[in-house]
Amino acid sequence: MQVDYQEKKSTDIKADALIVVLTKEDLAQEKRNQPSKLDALLRDSKVQMESQLKAGNFDGDKGQQITLFSVGKHRVLSLVGVGEKSELTNEKVRRAAAVGVKSAKKSKATSVVLTALNSTVEQLSDYETVHSLLEGAMLGAYRFDKYLTQDKESTKITAFTVALDGVKSSIGKKAARDAELLCEAVYLTRDLSNAPASEIYPEALAAVAAELAKKHHLLARILNEKQIRQLKMGGLLAVNSGSARPPRFITLEYKGNPKSRDWYAIVGKGITFDSGGISLKPAAGMGEMKMDMSGAAAVIGTMQSIASLKIPVNVVGIAPSTENLPSGSAYKPGDVVTTMSGITIEVDNTDAEGRIILSDGLYYAQRYRPKAIIDLATLTGAVVVALGHHATGMFGTSEEVMAQLKEAGEKTYERVWQMPVYEEYEKQIKSDIADVKNVGGRWAGSITAALFLKKFVGDYPWVHLDIAGTAMLEDATDYSPKGGSGVGVRLLTQFFKQVASA
Ligand code: BES
Ligand code: MN
Ligand code: ZN
Repeated sequence: MQVDYQEKKSTDIKADALIVVLTKEDLAQEKRNQPSKLDALLRDSKVQMESQLKAGNFDGDKGQQITLFSVGKHRVLSLVGVGEKSELTNEKVRRAAAVGVKSAKKSKATSVVLTALNSTVEQLSDYETVHSLLEGAMLGAYRFDKYLTQDKESTKITAFTVALDGVKSSIGKKAARDAELLCEAVYLTRDLSNAPASEIYPEALAAVAAELAKKHHLLARILNEKQIRQLKMGGLLAVNSGSARPPRFITLEYKGNPKSRDWYAIVGKGITFDSGGISLKPAAGMGEMKMDMSGAAAVIGTMQSIASLKIPVNVVGIAPSTENLPSGSAYKPGDVVTTMSGITIEVDNTDAEGRIILSDGLYYAQRYRPKAIIDLATLTGAVVVALGHHATGMFGTSEEVMAQLKEAGEKTYERVWQMPVYEEYEKQIKSDIADVKNVGGRWAGSITAALFLKKFVGDYPWVHLDIAGTAMLEDATDYSPKGGSGVGVRLLTQFFKQVASA
């Protein structure tokens, strides 16, 4: 992929397609026949354009898109509306760029130039405009097509250039590079989520983490089964007992601020396939559970993103990983498991396995005496019932960290929504024979799951993100296809940017 910014007129840059993002005001200015950028842009094809806009009822409103052909240097011209100038946001620009890219793809373009007209640049900062255009374009161009041999898209967009008149090259190039590095990390997370469990099993996931560490100078510590046993990670071992494949406990350290001794820990659920175990899931839709390692994938993607962007923070990424399968050696309902922390768990349902492996992951995170522990997990179906696919469930003990994540969520549009962890819910996970039970009955399933996790973080500030709805999409959105969304990477990268600048 080639990503660049050019301080030039977009019309002067050679590419198959030109994507123009514009507001209603931009278009109105054009219609009043005042000299405008759009006017200059399309001088050659004014007649074609005007009739097309009229025929297509295009007035620059949000979500509108129109494709014109053979305009100036470009085979395809895609105009995308973002609505009113006063209501312009980065998210609208991202979505518009993604819509433009899709229209370019339909016309078999392999290279695109993106630009925005006057009012976008006036309303957002120069850096943000370039960044959001590329973010939307690159994320919108993603497709998991590795296993397609027949229906493979014959064309792929390999070159993305942003050109804005009047935005300095130094700012534009920096924004373009940052967006590229961020999107590469999101691609990695999406690829890991979408990969079948035959390809991404615990050892394979660990190999990806180790590879990443080599490339980005991170310290990888990957614990094998024997080491996991030595540390007495009884939770991870119990869930692993039904699987023919060994578990892995993945850690990646990024020391971006050597002068500071502050650490942050991010912990991801790495169930590479969740069949439910002996408490077997129904057959319909079980294949989606290849994505039950999306928390771990988000942690790995975030480590790549913050390291490549060189954000000055110290972060350890932690991902316990195993399959959850039934077999003659599998753990069973009724079992009692002793975790690394010493806390015992009564297993009521082997399908509530995420919290069991996270018990060891969260407890291990305390070794870093972190400023905060943030975990990401496709933990409960209940959170999908509550919030659907447009918000991540957020639970935690630190209002401060949660406020920071909320802000990061609004900025990136990977939005989080806080849910309560009132102590009254705790009695639902009380066990008669062990310290805690792994299921809490029918009601408030995502809250009781969070309260379970809370037992393993000691007194450290902690936030749990239940991404079951947002990491695994049933339908495509403007810039995320169906399947793995890569959620968490942009959110946490923004969070760590905020931490670094605080
Ligand atoms: N991985 C699932 C949660 C899940 C469900 C993620 C749907 C994405 C979509 C988790 O391990 C699980 O099975 N949770 C159970 C918990 C129950 C047994 C208490 C659930 O939500 O049904
Ligand atoms: Mn499960
Ligand atoms: Zn699961």
